[in-house]
Amino acid sequence: LRGSRLALVEQLVVDVADWPRPGITFKDITPLLASPGGFSAAVTEMVAAAPRDVDVVVGTEARGFLFAAPVALALGAGFVPVRKPGKLPRATLDQAYDLEYGQETLSVHADAVAAGARVLLVDDVLATGGTVLAAADLLGRLGAQVVGVSVVLELGSLPGRQRLEDAGLQVSALVR
Ligand code: PRP
Repeated sequence: LRGSRLALVEQLVVDVADWPRPGITFKDITPLLASPGGFSAAVTEMVAAAPRDVDVVVGTEARGFLFAAPVALALGAGFVPVRKPGKLPRATLDQAYDLEYGQETLSVHADAVAAGARVLLVDDVLATGGTVLAAADLLGRLGAQVVGVSVVLELGSLPGRQRLEDAGLQVSALVR
């Protein structure tokens, strides 16, 4: 059953050549989201792979939210958003990180996660790992414990997994 769920997930993530720029192959998860069976298969398998006793599931804007929220509900955990800058209304912690070209910043509410909380980080795609590492840095600054990272899809051609493992993070991907 697990194998057929993962095969369905893989089949519903569609490669789009030369988007957003020539030479880049974009992984489009919208067919997966649009398929009731596919979406549910992805969430079921992320939940099955989750570590024990997760207090909080953190999702990163925007596509990470789509998987993090249902995983949080299924685990009986809270959901906390890590957002792009200027979106959260109260005091935040901010973390800049490097993109292929330029820099991006992620923000979290300063009181969003209690010190010592066990956090699962969820995103749709792991590419360079920059997004997850920045989110993990924010959670570390809040005193939280990142007990796992769960993504739908990992790009094996990029060093994302290695960078996360070097930082001591446990990574689970449904599809590589
Ligand atoms: C994408 C994706 C991940 C991140 C992966 O988000 O949803 O969060 O990039 O790349 P990385 O491992 O190299 O950091 P994007 O910034 O495109 O934002 P979106 O979810 O709002 O589309």
